[in-house]
Amino acid sequence: MATTATLRLDQKEYTLPVFVGSEGEKAVDVRHLRNDSGCITYDEGYGNTGSCQSAVTFIDGEAGILRYRGYPIEQLAEYSSFIETAYLIMNGELPTPVQRKRFSQLLTENAPIHSSMEHLFEGFPADAPPMAILSAMLNSLGCYYPHLATNDHQRDLENFEETAAIIISKVRTIAAYSYRASRGLPYIYPRRDLPYCENFLHMMFSTPYEPYIPLPEVAQALNLFLLLHADHEQNCSTSTVRMVASSGANLFASAAAGVCALWGPLHGGANMAVLEMLKSIHAEGDDGTKFIEQAKLGKADKRLMGFGHRVYKHYDPRATIIKTSFYSALASLGIKDDPLLNIAMRLEEAALKDDYFLARKLYPNVDFYSGLIMRAIGIPENMFTVMFAIGRMPGWIANWREVASNQKGRIYRPRQIYTGALKRDYVPPHQRK
Ligand code: ACO
Repeated sequence: MATTATLRLDQKEYTLPVFVGSEGEKAVDVRHLRNDSGCITYDEGYGNTGSCQSAVTFIDGEAGILRYRGYPIEQLAEYSSFIETAYLIMNGELPTPVQRKRFSQLLTENAPIHSSMEHLFEGFPADAPPMAILSAMLNSLGCYYPHLATNDHQRDLENFEETAAIIISKVRTIAAYSYRASRGLPYIYPRRDLPYCENFLHMMFSTPYEPYIPLPEVAQALNLFLLLHADHEQNCSTSTVRMVASSGANLFASAAAGVCALWGPLHGGANMAVLEMLKSIHAEGDDGTKFIEQAKLGKADKRLMGFGHRVYKHYDPRATIIKTSFYSALASLGIKDDPLLNIAMRLEEAALKDDYFLARKLYPNVDFYSGLIMRAIGIPENMFTVMFAIGRMPGWIANWREVASNQKGRIYRPRQIYTGALKRDYVPPHQRK
């Protein structure tokens, strides 16, 4: 296998090293290209650019493979839980029974939020989007732990275990409180005896007079949803976390930035957008046929949401797993013949036979079914992306840790191709036309 590549530019040749990752993926190393040649590479959207080396997640988009720390997603989905998987992602290895117990204790101890933080929720308008609240609250959380948010990576890393547990645990409390605040409902405190997902559902849906006890299949569906979202390589939000971390920022601030990046409809907001799309197809009395035709016109505002992926050029493996769990949650909830589900199935069937989608390798991604799962669990629509953020937290934390631990790390600072005006002189206001 070639260990170098040759680039010819203006009659000069440059020898560029070729990197090989542990799964055999190759990359041409251009780190010295600008110094040597004065030329940079251009890759809008970074589809051909490796921004880092990472040992967290491996994806082969062509083969539909996803592994966390080497473990296939299918095995983790079958045998593991979100919390065990979070530990694996953040620490590199599955926990021993002692490590697992200690992590659980840390999560239990750190579930409540400081009582003065409760007042911060009241500062938001009642209809504030929960993603805006979540991002602001995560950043505020750092203010309550200044010794864990020093912006000195060495010091912040010394307390990594505690900081990671605080964020993983409190993010669900903050998420549930933002929902309760938006509904004008009293806050429900976390319980020490409940597992992670059950505790979240308790804080969301219990009342002061009646505990909410979820069906095991519902808690399991949530567990699986979070596990399947726990990391996904250098996606938009994870790259954002790494970008912010590269400046030396602490984990709270970096994770808050990840939430903002996840908010958009092309990323974490897609699960909400899928449900909106299904509802509008239903409201128009379409069975999906008309919508598919419109989606094929290539207009950005009429895309088949939940289809296509920058990396997967085959079925997203998470979509296959979540679809199965969805049916078992529906059966346990006694939901039969859901019109939105019927439309979703019809859209999927039609798209998988259609040349437009096949030629562009557009297959269902995890979001195609995850919105329907959230809906069946009873999560309100504007909380869908928040659920994604809770799930993605271990991945952001692991990626922050890699950046913070890299002694030779440099601040992330891409270049650009300038296409603006050439040098010109300032025009005083009265001379402007
Ligand atoms: N519906 C219809 N056409 C599509 C779709 C879609 N969902 N996605 C891509 N296309 C078309 C484009 O119009 C383009 O067609 P063209 O070659 O004729 O111009 C072609 O497929 C390639 O599209 P790109 O935008 O270049 O693909 P890219 O890799 O940049 O985008 C993305 C990936 C953003 C996921 C895109 O497929 C999309 O918008 N999907 C819908 C939103 C979605 O489901 N997002 C969730 C992503 S997964 C996640 O974040 C967990």
